[in-house]
Amino acid sequence: MKILVTGGLGFIGSHTAVELQQAGYEVVILDDCSNSSEKVLDGITAITGQRPIFEKIDLKQKPDVIDFFKRHADLSGVIHFAASKAVGESVENPLLYYENNINTLVYILKQLAQKEKAGFIFSSSCTVYGQAEKMPITEDAPVKAAESPYGNTKQIGEEIISDTCKVTPHMNAISLRYFNPIGAHQSAEIGELPIGIPQNLVPFITQTGIGLREQLSVFGDDYPTEDGTCIRDYIHVVDLAKAHVVALERLIEGKNKKNYEVYNIGTGTGSSVLEVIESFERVSGKKLNYKIVGRRPGDVIQAYADTTKANKILGWKAQSSLDEAMRLAWLWEQKIRA
Ligand code: UD1
Repeated sequence: MKILVTGGLGFIGSHTAVELQQAGYEVVILDDCSNSSEKVLDGITAITGQRPIFEKIDLKQKPDVIDFFKRHADLSGVIHFAASKAVGESVENPLLYYENNINTLVYILKQLAQKEKAGFIFSSSCTVYGQAEKMPITEDAPVKAAESPYGNTKQIGEEIISDTCKVTPHMNAISLRYFNPIGAHQSAEIGELPIGIPQNLVPFITQTGIGLREQLSVFGDDYPTEDGTCIRDYIHVVDLAKAHVVALERLIEGKNKKNYEVYNIGTGTGSSVLEVIESFERVSGKKLNYKIVGRRPGDVIQAYADTTKANKILGWKAQSSLDEAMRLAWLWEQKIRA
C-alpha cells in the first residue's frame, strides 16, 4: 500500500517514513526542503534498504497538489507533517504560518475528499491545551485560546478536519496531539536537524554539550513545580513515529469508531528542565554548562499526557525512557558534528 508522507524529510516525518517502510508500506515523500535536506533520503535508505519515492513539491502551489493526486490515484493514506513550527517566527509572520499550515491542509483535504476511501493522519500538538488545569492531560481537556499563530494553526487545522469529516463520511482522519518529541533513530542515520539556533530544549542541550553553543539558558526556576523549572512530556521520536503507523492501520483496516478521532501521544511522564539536563549528563558523562535566566514568555508551567486512550484503543505505548532518548539524541549530535 502506498502512503503519502508530506514533510517526510523532517524530524518526525523521516522517522515515520522508516517505520512505515519497515511495516511494509510503500512511502512517497513530498517536501519543499524549506527546513530539511534531501540527504535525509540517504539516511532513510540506509536504515530500510529501500529509497522512498521523493518529489520536491511546495504544497502551497495548489495546481501541483492537484497534479500529484492525479498521478498517485492509488494512495491508501496520507500522513501530513509538512508545516512550519517555530512559535516565535509565527508571532512575527502570522500570514506565513496560516499560508503554510492552513492553505496546504485545505488543498490536500480537497483532493482526499474526492477519493472513494481516504485515511488521513494530522500532526497536532499538546499546545492546543495551553496550560491545562489537570495533569495528566486527557483528550477531553478543553482546547484553550492559542498563545501564538503557530498554536492557532494546529487548533484551526483540527477544526477543518473535523468539519470536513462531518460531511464526508468516506473520509477517515486522526489527529495526533504530540507532546515533546526528542531523540533520534537508534542507527544514528536520521535525527533532528535544526537550522540556526535551536529553539527547543534538547537540541540546544546537545549542541551545548558538543561545544557549538556556549551555554544553555534555563528559562525560569521559579515555577510552582518541585525544582522550579517547567515540566514537559518528552517522547522518543521513534515511539512517536510508531504511533502514526498504528493510527494509519486503524483507518486502513476500518477499525475506527468515528471518522474523526483525536489521541494524545506522549509517555505519560513529566520531566523538569533540570531532570532533562541531569539525564543528558548521565548518558553523555559530560557536565552541561547552563545558567538559570528569566522565564520565556508563553511557556506553560507543566504539560504531560494521559495516554490511556492511545494505549487502550490504538494498542500503542511509548517504550523508550528519557535516558534512552537522550542517549540517542547525543549519539546523533556527535555523529553529525564528527
Ligand atoms: C515548543 C512550543 C510548542 C511547540 C513545540 C514544538 C513554545 C512556548 N512552545 O514547546 O508550541 O508545539 O515547541 O516543538 O515555544 N527551555 C529552556 N531553555 C531553552 C529551550 C527550552 O529552558 O533554551 C525550556 C522551556 O522553557 C520549556 C522546556 O525547556 O520549559 C521545553 O521547551 P521546548 O523544547 O521549546 O518545548 P515547548 O516549549 O514545550
